[in-house]
Amino acid sequence: MSSEQAAPLLRIEDLHVSVGERDILRGVDLTIEEGETHVLLGPNGGGKSTLLNTIVGIPGYRVTQGRIVFKGVDLAGLEIDERARLGIGIAFQRPPAVRGVRLRQMLEVAARSELTPDTVADLDETLSLGHMLDRDVNMGFSGGEAKRSEMAQLLAQMPDLALFDEPESGVDLDNIAVVGGAMNSLLKGEERISERRRAGLIITHTGHILEFVNADVGHVLYNGRLACKGNPLDLIEEISSHGYDKCVECALCQTFA
Ligand SMILES: Nc1ncnc2c1ncn2[C@@H]1O[C@H](COP(=O)(O)OP(=O)(O)O)[C@@H](O)[C@H]1O
Ligand SMILES: [Mg+2]
Repeated sequence: MSSEQAAPLLRIEDLHVSVGERDILRGVDLTIEEGETHVLLGPNGGGKSTLLNTIVGIPGYRVTQGRIVFKGVDLAGLEIDERARLGIGIAFQRPPAVRGVRLRQMLEVAARSELTPDTVADLDETLSLGHMLDRDVNMGFSGGEAKRSEMAQLLAQMPDLALFDEPESGVDLDNIAVVGGAMNSLLKGEERISERRRAGLIITHTGHILEFVNADVGHVLYNGRLACKGNPLDLIEEISSHGYDKCVECALCQTFA
């Protein structure tokens, strides 16, 4: 028991993942402790979404080597819903529309039996859900509305590990602030359910979301592995000045690698 409590929230060891015939991830190692927020950077098509989708358990992402351990449980063979019940949640970059299921019903599912009218009112106030609550999830939602709907579902679920795939993409500045505020309250807020501190893993391309969310550690996914680790804002500055190829060669990254 005591050794389980000391284990990190998430430990990924030597993870290799194939999609179809292609090997996308080739030896990813990552440890996230309770309460930490990590940032995942890397070139387009490098496998960032693949890593998140594999953690969540989306079919088609095949683990060919290595393992993912969450709260001491090896996730191999667990379905998406089992992983969600263990405390893993995701906000997709392009969330699918769900015909016939209203957002309000989706929030009830996400919250299990813990969704109270007060919580819905809070979510509505924080994320301006309004008419979206009684519409089919993401059917005809604008980019900003779809992101706010994703955030509402995550805030209803309150996962211990929240994964965010490019939360700022396709969203205007006003909505980025709203989405970022919701992320911050999820990751750092201690007012709901219990006092445990949640952890996050955020994919960001531009880094804009980090104006609103405090992140502890950044990683660069390059050639199928996490090539380096450092202060997220320093990494983003380095990448925007010199590009990914130079970034992963720099002395700072080598130190952390
Ligand atoms: N469901 C999928 N079906 C086929 N190919 C996929 C799928 N998901 C990812 N890939 C491929 O895996 C590679 C990595 O993609 P992705 O993980 O989306 O990268 P990133 O998020 O870093 O831009 C790409 O070549 C992409 O086409
Ligand atoms: Mg992606």
